[in-house]
Amino acid sequence: MDNKKSSSATTLQNGKQSNGNQSNGKPSNGKSTSGSMQSSQLMQLFEDELKDIYWAEKALTKAIPKMIKNATSQDLIEALTSHLDETENHITRLHQVFESIGKKASAKKCEAMDGLIEEAGDIMDSCEQGPMRDAGIISAAQKVEHYEIASYGTLRQFAETLGLSEAVVLLEATLNEEKAADEKLTMVATDTINIEAAQEAA
Ligand SMILES: [Fe+2]
Ligand SMILES: [Fe+2]
Repeated sequence: MDNKKSSSATTLQNGKQSNGNQSNGKPSNGKSTSGSMQSSQLMQLFEDELKDIYWAEKALTKAIPKMIKNATSQDLIEALTSHLDETENHITRLHQVFESIGKKASAKKCEAMDGLIEEAGDIMDSCEQGPMRDAGIISAAQKVEHYEIASYGTLRQFAETLGLSEAVVLLEATLNEEKAADEKLTMVATDTINIEAAQEAA
């Protein structure tokens, strides 16, 4: 990817190219064209990442209810149920982010989230219902939250660099909820579930 970037930039700086999709009517004076090209590439990356997390959030609205069904601890059920509501809201916010950049919301399959959700299913199948399965659900759910935290952290940073102030506010709101959900799961785990699971294993 870096190679691609630098080779197109070199072509532009040499002033030889004109493939029709960059310097429409603009003087090709190297520096400024290269800057605007970088920002249009960053915008493209921003949009691609948005589509990825949009797919992931939609998949989570189907995966979290399965975790809730499999959970036993009331604290865990409550934490997951409240985060399911937040997840619906994350989708609404993503619609608003797409709208703020003049694009229609669209999804692109997120292989990473697909894998994490599959792994959650395997953990639930392989653990006996009760504290053990609850501990497994928390571990799978926290991996999901960490993926989301990484994605929203990057998206917010991209939005900031691109000067998309409305998107920054929306993405930051979701990022904070993902962090809080992760902390809540840690609390549920350390307060009761891990202790009970360890006792059960003994
Ligand atoms: Fe989310
Ligand atoms: Fe989340």
